[in-house]
Amino acid sequence: MLRTLLSALTLSLCTTLPAGAPAVDTEGHAWWQHAVFYEIYPRSFQDSTGNGVGDLNGITARLDYLRGLGVDALWLTPCFPSPQVDFGYDVSDYWDIDPLFGTLQDFDRLVAEGRERGLKVILDLVLNHTSDQHPWFKESRSSRTSPRRDWYVWRDGKGPGAPPCNWESLFGGPAWTLDPATGQYYYHYFYRQQPDLNWRNPAVKDEMLDVTRWWYRRGVAGFRLDAVDTVFEDPGLADNPVLPGRNEYGDPNMKNLHNYKLEEEHGLLKDLRRVADETGAVLIGETYTESTPELKAYYGNGRDELQMPTGHMLAMAQTLSAADFRQRIDATLATGFWPVWVLGNHDLARTATRFGDGRHDDAIAKVLAALLLTLPGTPILYYGEELGMVNNDPVRLEDVRDPLARQGWPRAKRRDGARTPMQWDGTAGAGFTKGKPWLPIPPSAATRNVAAESGEPGSVLNFHRQVLALRRGDPALREGDYRPLNPADPNVLSCLRTYRNEAVLVTLNLSPEQRSLSFDLKALGWDPTRAVRLATSGAALPEAGLPLELGPYGVAMVSVPRLR
Ligand code: NOJ
Repeated sequence: MLRTLLSALTLSLCTTLPAGAPAVDTEGHAWWQHAVFYEIYPRSFQDSTGNGVGDLNGITARLDYLRGLGVDALWLTPCFPSPQVDFGYDVSDYWDIDPLFGTLQDFDRLVAEGRERGLKVILDLVLNHTSDQHPWFKESRSSRTSPRRDWYVWRDGKGPGAPPCNWESLFGGPAWTLDPATGQYYYHYFYRQQPDLNWRNPAVKDEMLDVTRWWYRRGVAGFRLDAVDTVFEDPGLADNPVLPGRNEYGDPNMKNLHNYKLEEEHGLLKDLRRVADETGAVLIGETYTESTPELKAYYGNGRDELQMPTGHMLAMAQTLSAADFRQRIDATLATGFWPVWVLGNHDLARTATRFGDGRHDDAIAKVLAALLLTLPGTPILYYGEELGMVNNDPVRLEDVRDPLARQGWPRAKRRDGARTPMQWDGTAGAGFTKGKPWLPIPPSAATRNVAAESGEPGSVLNFHRQVLALRRGDPALREGDYRPLNPADPNVLSCLRTYRNEAVLVTLNLSPEQRSLSFDLKALGWDPTRAVRLATSGAALPEAGLPLELGPYGVAMVSVPRLR
């Protein structure tokens, strides 16, 4: 608490809190509704010390690249002090920066230099659990009567050798670990080194709300809320229903009925939102769902819970199918609230690998970019996707860094492949490090890198830059209405984004064949004879702009004025 007061005093000297409600534009939109977010995995973005691990000064050194790319807000996965069992998702101090990544001063410089370039910084808040090395947990486990005992979830076993209930850890094995010192079990939804906090204890909530306030004062523009669905569990510890079959760890399949997505989580989201609103900060939720009502619930009444729940409807797609994507888009839009779009992140295989066919990989990377960046709402782009970086799964057990992959080896290669270093140039360390990178750099980095792609007009990187620039300059793309066209087309996704006197026609061929398209735009009040090309990839446009010929996985974005 003393630390909170001291920092508040220091920071109030250099930071002014904007008063009242967040500023909105003439359309009623807040800053994050116009922004493109960019996820950085700090270990893998830029190493400034030569130890093979990325750090904050490395990110600061790359701010001009990010500005030039055309993104607006950087979400950094956790960089708080941590034993790094789950690479930062096991926090041992919420009020500092891990020395591996730098210092608080480095962080302040990153925020300040970001601000100069119009780039905001979002941190990743791990709410559900801490590290088992956090002083709170050490104190909590020290005795049954410790004042912090109730900060975590401790229970007696059901009998000798039997945990309190049948809940399983998402990361394999039981979700309960016996602590011999006090003879009780503690609960962990993830690794045993990530004990769950007891969110039914008001002291835990107060402390965490203070943590967010402290970082907001330091200039943080919001938080991504890690694993927020796992924060509460049934205090009665009812067994979860067991389903047929076993998962990749060999555990029985289970429906997490009593320890996942509990109603109480909405109260917490409201509390976090009240504090975020003090500075106009944004809350992004790690809220996996494929259900519209569930996604809708995370917004609360539209003003009192998450601004940006990441339904991950697109991210969960496994095949490039216009019908499947259309259904996912419709399901997201059906909430009626501001949509958020994600295709990839540090837990999922890279999109180039998920969707690439080995023949049209660049075209596929571009059609995905156009999809992500032209839907109505706020996109979150994962670092390296703008280059078309591929997944680089470890092939030998000794190269595995993600403990999840070690557990599931060789069945589950898990997350290392999507977390390899950013590819800046064609040198041995890919311009990422002068040392030995913590994860190997794939051979494809020799050509798939920022330096090489910057020099190729038709590269995946330059296509991202082009579409991001269009989006920044064109209100129809940024905040225009959305009207799907040709909704029965099994191959091509088409829509109109309209704003006042302009419509942007976006057509995305999700098939490997050439497609001819025609639209009756006149009937909708738009003048196809005055259509102007905005961006294309693998598409031919006749003089007057329409009809369109799209090559395999081709993209065309065309501006069409209102009929006179
Ligand atoms: C979700 C994060 O994205 C993942 O990387 C992490 O392992 C778990 N939450 C646990 O914090």
